[in-house]
Amino acid sequence: MLRGKNLIYPTDFTVEQLEALFCLTDKIIARPDQYANSCNDKILATLFFEPSTRTRLSFEAAMQRLGGKVLGFADSASSSATKGESLADTIRMISCYADIAAIRHPAEGAAHVAALHSFIPVINAGDGGHQHPTQTLTDLYTIRAKKGRFHDLTIGLCGDLKYGRTVHSLIHAMCRYENIHFVLISPPELQVPDYVIREIEAAPGCSYSVDPDLDSAIRQVDILYMTRVQRERFSSQEEYLRLKDSYILDTQKMQNAKPDMIVLHPMPIVNEITGAVDEDPRACYFVQAQYGMYVRMALILSLLGAEDGPATVCGGRMFEKTCQNPRPNGTVHCKNPKCVSNLDLTLPIRVKDGGKVCEYCDAAIEE
Ligand code: NCD
Repeated sequence: MLRGKNLIYPTDFTVEQLEALFCLTDKIIARPDQYANSCNDKILATLFFEPSTRTRLSFEAAMQRLGGKVLGFADSASSSATKGESLADTIRMISCYADIAAIRHPAEGAAHVAALHSFIPVINAGDGGHQHPTQTLTDLYTIRAKKGRFHDLTIGLCGDLKYGRTVHSLIHAMCRYENIHFVLISPPELQVPDYVIREIEAAPGCSYSVDPDLDSAIRQVDILYMTRVQRERFSSQEEYLRLKDSYILDTQKMQNAKPDMIVLHPMPIVNEITGAVDEDPRACYFVQAQYGMYVRMALILSLLGAEDGPATVCGGRMFEKTCQNPRPNGTVHCKNPKCVSNLDLTLPIRVKDGGKVCEYCDAAIEE
């Protein structure tokens, strides 16, 4: 069903497709041996232009556990990007070597650009402070396992809601379900971007409230999604140091939470959750990280069309195919300096929502 698709936003898959993916994840967890050769002659490229431990290694472990092989790089210094190669050209070449690619890049919209120029399925493994859909698959699978539903939930999101791409993707995904209330817990400087607020406002089944006080917010939530303050996205280190300890979840705060509340965190944890909380049965972030590999196994299988037999999507050998890569027209600019269109000036400007929004990074654009 997902054969040949890309995953750039979590909503690139319908809720039914997500449920099928999670059912496949259930099956893989129950009988991993049955999938051990599903991707025998297939290659995953991991293109990591930004640091990662869990995401890259869980992708690589996922492909290897499916019998496939992995190639790629773990930082941009070891890629041709340092020589000035465009992302479009890099992904075209990778399409000749691999069957599927996972890309992480500091520029917002980079994975979308890669997908536009790729001949193989592209998975967004994090594009700057924008989106991180495979973390969302992991988050959703954990919510499904621990709460048994995606509706009627109050979800507290705490910490760096401005730069935390996992927060943006999770909200984006949850906005499709019924009776979801988001409690946004952050200092004013780290509030969610406007485009995310607009998504909540446009979702008929969702609402939100802002409560910068974790002590009071924790009492009402079914899920508490903690995040670290994203040091690498700050232009001022002074500002980072001022905000980095805004929230620390400790056992005292946990006492005020519902007995069946769960704590999630995309990891890595810096100091926003004290070690003693790990022992609380409501702390689910380690099991959440474990699910990540299995969900990615299901994702790779589905995108390669290998859920029930040998993969049907194959990269390589596309000598005849050509790609468009027009030059920018210079009349419309994305205001977001971190947008991929402002870093790679060979990219055309692309807009959506009647020309008001940048298609790469979701920021408002100006004429
Ligand atoms: C997250 C990310 O990279 O955005 N990590 C991850 O992939 N699990 C969260 C973070 O780095 O804080």
